[in-house]
Amino acid sequence: MTFDRTVPAPYVPATSRYEGMEYRTVGRSGLKLPAISLGLWHNFGDDKPMATQRQIIHRAFDRGVTHFDLANNYGPPAGSAESNFGRILREDLKSHRDELIISSKAGWNMWSGPYGFGGSRKYLMSSLDQSLERLGLDYVDIFYHHRPDPDTPLEETLYALRDIVNSGKALYVGISSYGPELTAEAAEFMAEEGCPLLIHQPSYSIVNRWVEEPGEDEESLLESAVDNGLGVIAFSPLAQGLLTDRYLKGVPADSRAAAGKSLSEGMLSQENLAMVSQLNDIASERGQTLAQMALAWVLRKQGEFGEQTVASALVGASSVAQLDENLAALDNLEFSEAELAAIDDAASDAGINIWAGATRSKIHDEKN
Ligand SMILES: NC(=O)c1ccc[n+]([C@@H]2O[C@H](COP(=O)([O-])OP(=O)(O)OC[C@H]3O[C@@H](n4cnc5c(N)ncnc54)[C@H](OP(=O)(O)O)[C@@H]3O)[C@@H](O)[C@H]2O)c1
Repeated sequence: MTFDRTVPAPYVPATSRYEGMEYRTVGRSGLKLPAISLGLWHNFGDDKPMATQRQIIHRAFDRGVTHFDLANNYGPPAGSAESNFGRILREDLKSHRDELIISSKAGWNMWSGPYGFGGSRKYLMSSLDQSLERLGLDYVDIFYHHRPDPDTPLEETLYALRDIVNSGKALYVGISSYGPELTAEAAEFMAEEGCPLLIHQPSYSIVNRWVEEPGEDEESLLESAVDNGLGVIAFSPLAQGLLTDRYLKGVPADSRAAAGKSLSEGMLSQENLAMVSQLNDIASERGQTLAQMALAWVLRKQGEFGEQTVASALVGASSVAQLDENLAALDNLEFSEAELAAIDDAASDAGINIWAGATRSKIHDEKN
């Protein structure tokens, strides 16, 4: 019997890594994020080969993606994405910690019993300690409350976030899937506490535009975030893969939809696929793939808010090829009025905002 004794060469990041990336200021802060960030929700659990995970992370960092987004429950199993990323950090990126923005979150279901869900101080504090243990870190750069919790007073969640920053376990804090009014209330409270919220993480894409819609006070989430000094990082800008060519010729066996994960086959309705096909044609006319156009659209200039409304598009990728294709979106972020109008004509809400219930679950406290 022979054994392969080849030891893989240690990872050495590309020296050119900061040359092709655009970095955008996050709200009213001194922090910049890459225009495209990488999320580890799917594709980084124990169900995916470690070698592929490593290749994707290496390539991302080689191309200037300095921001990696995690949460306590990413996997499967829950927690494994943090453990796997922690291993890659320890083995390959340890000496580059100060070049990285690593985020985690708590809010959705994590462990059994009453303390593994929601927005209580008990849950947020213990969950962050567990995340740091799995990541092998002393601190994360950004810690989020992952979803509004109707059963916890907003103040309790916000005091916990403030105290997390004071403890040094997170440098900045943010919120995810909060509606416009709750965002404004939370931002004002935290500003008074001297611990401003850095960022909001909402879902946003060509076919899921809830952040542009007026809320109860007529202000959209994008307006509320900008007015209150929060940056925005848009998650699922590819609508989990719908806004790519992935499903135009059926459902590939290795896709998220086939795996029965968060993109149900019901979301791939005839109507949605016809819309995607039309959007694909518009992208071709621009000389982009649909994935590239979808990312450029999220990052486009937005009227009075300017081009920094969305600081970063937070994508997922199951291969290096997908990541490379997505990063090439940055070659053309400009849209003519006619192109924007054609996209608006072709697009409608695809019914894929599976986080809407969490947003609706808690509205501005004064109105409760
Ligand atoms: N705050 C929250 O509540 C929340 C919720 C959801 C997500 N997030 C964050 O946002 C991140 C991104 O979410 P997401 O993964 O849904 O984003 P997405 O970018 O909309 O979808 C990523 C998926 O699209 C497919 N894809 C990506 N690039 C492609 C390409 N060039 N061509 C063809 N297919 C392509 C891949 O599907 P296959 O795997 O099928 O190849 C990939 O897994 C997450 O990892 C997480 O960090 C946050």
